[in-house]
Amino acid sequence: MSSVAKWVLRNMLVTSESLTPEISLRLITEASPLWTSSPDKCPYSDPYWAFYWPGGQGLTRFILDNRSLFRYSSVLDFGCGCGSASIAVKLSGGKVLSNDVDTNALVATRINHRLNNITYVNSSFSAKNYLLPTYFQELQCFLESSTSSYIVLGDMFYDCDFASEIFAWLKKVCSVSKSRVLVGDPDRHPLTDHKHTTRFKKELLAEYRLPLCVTKENYGFTTTKTNCQTFICIYR
Ligand SMILES: C[S@@+](CC[C@H](N)C(=O)[O-])C[C@H]1O[C@@H](n2cnc3c(N)ncnc32)[C@H](O)[C@@H]1O
Repeated sequence: MSSVAKWVLRNMLVTSESLTPEISLRLITEASPLWTSSPDKCPYSDPYWAFYWPGGQGLTRFILDNRSLFRYSSVLDFGCGCGSASIAVKLSGGKVLSNDVDTNALVATRINHRLNNITYVNSSFSAKNYLLPTYFQELQCFLESSTSSYIVLGDMFYDCDFASEIFAWLKKVCSVSKSRVLVGDPDRHPLTDHKHTTRFKKELLAEYRLPLCVTKENYGFTTTKTNCQTFICIYR
């Protein structure tokens, strides 16, 4: 077992207090000693994968409530973090590529698969940065390996410059594939600011009220939305 996996098992608690109580996850929660300790007590910088973000919660809830959409589909979980959306895809009978540039997120995603008795059949894990053109072809092959495909993004629009990069990439991917893009997000700035919103069309699929504990942990966000986004394609 890797040292990261050992650390996760020792320091992160199993919880199901979220919008998706049917999935258990190992996380840093308010009940974890790490929650109140100084940042240097955590050996990993920016452990985003140790939290279950509001956008990821809404996205995962949507997948679990609409399982038939994902059965036999190929799904890229871009920025998988703790792996919740990937787990929901597997419970729906889909094939998932769990992707995160932080390899520790992939360790957490694997651990959370096992916690929910999910096998690795039809699951693959990659730390590649799919935003880079080098991996464009490889990604297309994965998305085209089933008759329907999705790119799902939970809480990935936390920074304006990074959001711009993701929008440009999604536009390019969608210009050559029939993949649908599903975004779970509590309405962070790049998804509501006019400067960015002219770059895509969005259809609200679901809106969920976040449990109180999630609201408290996330700057008072009370709801989270799941949108299907289409990008104005100049390549088609
Ligand atoms: C805010 S967290 C969201 C995690 C998860 N989707 C959720 O909603 O709980 C953002 C995640 O994106 C990952 N990330 C950042 N840049 C990335 C990239 N270029 N490709 C893939 N993952 C990336 C981070 O490592 C982090 O785990």
